Amino acid sequence: MLKNETYIKVKGGKALKGNIKISGSKNSILALIPAMCLGDGVGVLTNAPLISDVEAMKGILGEIGIQLNCESNSVRIEGNIIYNELSKQYVSKIRASNLFLGVLLAKFGKAVVPLSGGDKIGNRPIDIHLYVFDKFGIKTKVVDGFVKCEATQFPYKGQNIFLRFPSVGATENAMLVASAADSETIIYNAAMEPEIVDLAILLNSMGTRISGAGTPVIRIKTSDSKLVRTSHEVIPDRLEAGTFLFMLAVTKGRGIIKNVIPEHVISVTSILADSGVDIKIEDSNIFIDATNCELSPIHVEALPFPGFPTDLQPIATVYSSHCIGMSIIKDTIHTERFNHLYELSRMGMVHTNIATNIIIEGIQNLAGASLEGTDIRMAVSLVMAALIAEGESKIYGLNHILRGYDNFVKKLMGLGAEVSVIDKDTIETIVQKKCI
Ligand code: UD1
Repeated sequence: MLKNETYIKVKGGKALKGNIKISGSKNSILALIPAMCLGDGVGVLTNAPLISDVEAMKGILGEIGIQLNCESNSVRIEGNIIYNELSKQYVSKIRASNLFLGVLLAKFGKAVVPLSGGDKIGNRPIDIHLYVFDKFGIKTKVVDGFVKCEATQFPYKGQNIFLRFPSVGATENAMLVASAADSETIIYNAAMEPEIVDLAILLNSMGTRISGAGTPVIRIKTSDSKLVRTSHEVIPDRLEAGTFLFMLAVTKGRGIIKNVIPEHVISVTSILADSGVDIKIEDSNIFIDATNCELSPIHVEALPFPGFPTDLQPIATVYSSHCIGMSIIKDTIHTERFNHLYELSRMGMVHTNIATNIIIEGIQNLAGASLEGTDIRMAVSLVMAALIAEGESKIYGLNHILRGYDNFVKKLMGLGAEVSVIDKDTIETIVQKKCI
């Protein structure tokens, strides 16, 4: 277990060069693991990322009687759910643990799950999830930090449900709950993220009949047979791919991002190409070359997929500081997700707010500093800023990065970045663990 005092030492000013293989998607596997719980038999998720959020999932599964074992880059799941209640121990670590409400409701018609944790990136209500449950006739109440749910009739009937906002988690919960309904469910204004499609593919391979995933209308028909676990390959992590694309571009580097589904990162590759970066796509490879190019300013608005992802907004913000001219950044998903700006100001980065827009005038010369990231993407954006800052930086918050990025530091080293992981107490470089 890494101590929070551990930091990444970064020497800035070097162009990143080389090839990098993208790992399996964090957000996908965090929905696929709960979905696997609905089946019987042995399930295997291949292309699994080595991240600490999967460890938290292992703890949650253990509490309800299911075994999860990580073997190299795959995750094996077996056993049957025997409890319908979860404690705060692991649930508090990750946001996606609220999907166990859907899982336990589909299994037992009853669930007691603590309010979930995850990144502190502003208010993250679950009213849409509870609205979905209510439509199925499931009564819910929040007592002392626990969400308690019970179906008035079980199995419940399928429903037509309109989501007021295409919430990823609420769409996933609706799909899980609907898989146990005794008639068809239709979800309108569903989230269209690639992780929703990945979830539908897994559930269908287990025996559900879901159509329309990836569009705003998803239909879930009843299935007569029991769901059976299968083997499934997790999609590549579009957010990791986007992160490294921005890093290579901002450092004026070049390389190949491998194992990507290019359509999943079209918002990133379009913005970078419009900004003057040479981008070529061949099958699952993205060739990027930013050597000798002057970066034009960007206009980013974080929106539901296929719009620009909110998770890459802090990273795009750092990128904009190295563009010539005025960039505009807006986050419509998490409007308060700008903690990185306060830390970045310690490197000398300045911004202005005009209404809900963040305006960044570049090029700004950043100076190395000691900074702390308090969520996954913020911490990574600070590392990215350190890569372009003059001198040395210390970035705290590696524990957050390891929640969602597989082998982050090793991958950066592979691209030639001057980075190392330092333990503050011993002032020694930590021997590289497998997943750092
Ligand atoms: C997922 C992703 C996260 C990403 C987010 C948006 C996982 C594990 N996490 O989170 O990385 O940043 O999608 O793409 O997949 N909302 C409500 N009420 C609700 C639910 C959501 O108001 O009941 C709001 C949220 O406050 C937020 C917006 O809807 O402003 C998007 O949230 P949602 O799509 O639900 O995100 P998550 O599923 O939590």
